[in-house]
Amino acid sequence: VATCAVAAVVVGRRVRSRRKWKKIVGVFRELEEACDTSVARLKQVVDAMAVEMHAGLASEGGSKLKMLLTFVDNLPNGREGGTFYALDLGGTNFRVLRVRLGGRRSSILEHDVERQPIPQHLMSSTSQDLFDFIASSLKEFIEREEDSSDHPLEKRRELGFTFSFPVKQTSMTKGVLIKWTKGFSIEDMVGKDVSDSLEEALMRKGLNMRVTALVNDTVGTLALGHYHDGDTVAAMIIGTGTNACYLERTDAIIKCQGLLTTSGGMVVNMEWGNFWSSHLPRTSYDIDLDADSPNPNDQGFEKMISGMYLGDIVRRVILKMFLESDIFGPVSSRLMTPFILRTPLMAAMHEDDSPDLTEVARILKDIIEIPDVPLKVRKLVVKVCNVVTRRAARLAAAGIVGILKKIGRDGSGGITGGRRSDMKMKRTVVAIEGGLYTSYLVFKEYLHEALTEILGEDIAKHVILKVTEDGSGIGAALLAASNSSNNVDNIQ
Ligand code: GLC
Repeated sequence: VATCAVAAVVVGRRVRSRRKWKKIVGVFRELEEACDTSVARLKQVVDAMAVEMHAGLASEGGSKLKMLLTFVDNLPNGREGGTFYALDLGGTNFRVLRVRLGGRRSSILEHDVERQPIPQHLMSSTSQDLFDFIASSLKEFIEREEDSSDHPLEKRRELGFTFSFPVKQTSMTKGVLIKWTKGFSIEDMVGKDVSDSLEEALMRKGLNMRVTALVNDTVGTLALGHYHDGDTVAAMIIGTGTNACYLERTDAIIKCQGLLTTSGGMVVNMEWGNFWSSHLPRTSYDIDLDADSPNPNDQGFEKMISGMYLGDIVRRVILKMFLESDIFGPVSSRLMTPFILRTPLMAAMHEDDSPDLTEVARILKDIIEIPDVPLKVRKLVVKVCNVVTRRAARLAAAGIVGILKKIGRDGSGGITGGRRSDMKMKRTVVAIEGGLYTSYLVFKEYLHEALTEILGEDIAKHVILKVTEDGSGIGAALLAASNSSNNVDNIQ
């Protein structure tokens, strides 16, 4: 009888564990289905993106895509000369740069960069605290970089300021913050002029500096991309946040009728992180993440795609698996903590190629405090990372094709803005920057694969994605130069 009882207990345990496993797999299958990014669906996203771009250009508030004017009508031409500074604020890190441009020789003679993380508390304190911190860093950088006897601090210097948030610009050097994104929330800054706030802080630190270009990171990236390769027509950032900009004809910017530029074009900052369409494959995890975020109903596309959020989507799926199956007893409080699983950790789990998935086990144990996760569950965790990353990369690819469609470079030979686009596909370069693309190989591969699937091989081979390292900062310095009275080329 005793043997029978033990056997019954063992069998019962097995049945229960099989049931729990089934539940976990069920959660995964549901996720997989909800994250569908078939080519047919991606093409719907492409069309929706192009339609929203038109709407955002037609009228102020006409779309969730803000399609912001940048007042950059001429991209750097390679003749810029002189020494310029740049500040790059907007992601996880903050960068200070000094760029020496070679004038007619079309060269960046040297550039020095210093990166530092933004202290967390400054992301939600006051504008003065944030800008004082930036100004101090810049001052220290200048003091280290320059011999102060030759270049006293009071000497007037010119600066490109990359401020990677939605800004309503009134000129190439001025603009007010519309709203914060990417976890920043400094209330007193919203509606204020960004360059004024910086210049005031610089003055408080005794620096005589003038912002000669205020740019979004996408615009800086486009500027550097174009400086190196004249076929560059758009730029995309896929890092902490995501966004894109491109060169538009001024006559297509209907909301600003009469806008005249010497080139007949202007760079438009799309703020595509806020793009929304019913065709996007949204899951219950996205809905919960949005509701728990400091900016609900905002930046929907960004929350499905960018580095700030991917790790947290994965954490939410793992949490659901553990809650539903009750497989390891009480859920660790770490697993309930938002943003504890940062995207680089998720990428490390995804790219763990050891047979026993030791890195996955380590991260689950050290970060989420769940020890001894069996191999088959670890394998499933890797699959979750894969589904979430693949969806993100493919949606980003659809976004790029949306831009190409709008400007008649998707090979469809359709009518764009009243003009028939060239039937022969032109070489088209998209400058790209951001850790997800540059440091997460699987993400990059999925993005390229989707581009080819959507466009077809014949067209896709004309579309080149080019990484521009530090482009957002160097590009701002280039634009500061082309807009400066001290630019060697402007003086001659
Ligand atoms: C966010 C910002 C946007 C920026 C992007 C990438 O979406 O709103 O301005 O370009 O992140 O950094």
